[in-house]
Amino acid sequence: MLKEAATKVRLNAHAPYSRFKVGAALRSTEGRLHIGCNVENVAYPEGTCAEAGAIAAMIAAGDTRIAELHVIADSPDPVPPCGGCRQKIAEFADPNVKVTLHTTDGQSVTFTVKDLLPGVFTAAHMTRT
Ligand code: THU
Repeated sequence: MLKEAATKVRLNAHAPYSRFKVGAALRSTEGRLHIGCNVENVAYPEGTCAEAGAIAAMIAAGDTRIAELHVIADSPDPVPPCGGCRQKIAEFADPNVKVTLHTTDGQSVTFTVKDLLPGVFTAAHMTRT
């Protein structure tokens, strides 16, 4: 179901510069579905990734944590989240949460959040005890 939702929202991506559409769908720990797609901008660094869009939708809807995340793109191999998105995912997901990456031609691979970002920077690193 998350794969289907990511597949559908991917079609809405605004990607006129890269022509690389990405869709993301997550289930929150509250049990609701949230979706996002990449939204590029002519000022290229202003573009946002699909994962960031799904996280923003989750927070805007009042949910708090990611229980599971799926991402899909039309690529030769399942495309892993960029470095910035790994940190964004880690903000809202426990280390063992699963992130499944898909290609539009049916390949899939699943990682945990801690696989994607070992040594993650957390709030604990700002606290001396
Ligand atoms: N992109 C995503 O939305 N998520 C990823 O995991 C990888 C990259 C987008 C950003 C940009 O709009 C396009 O793909 C090419 O980098």
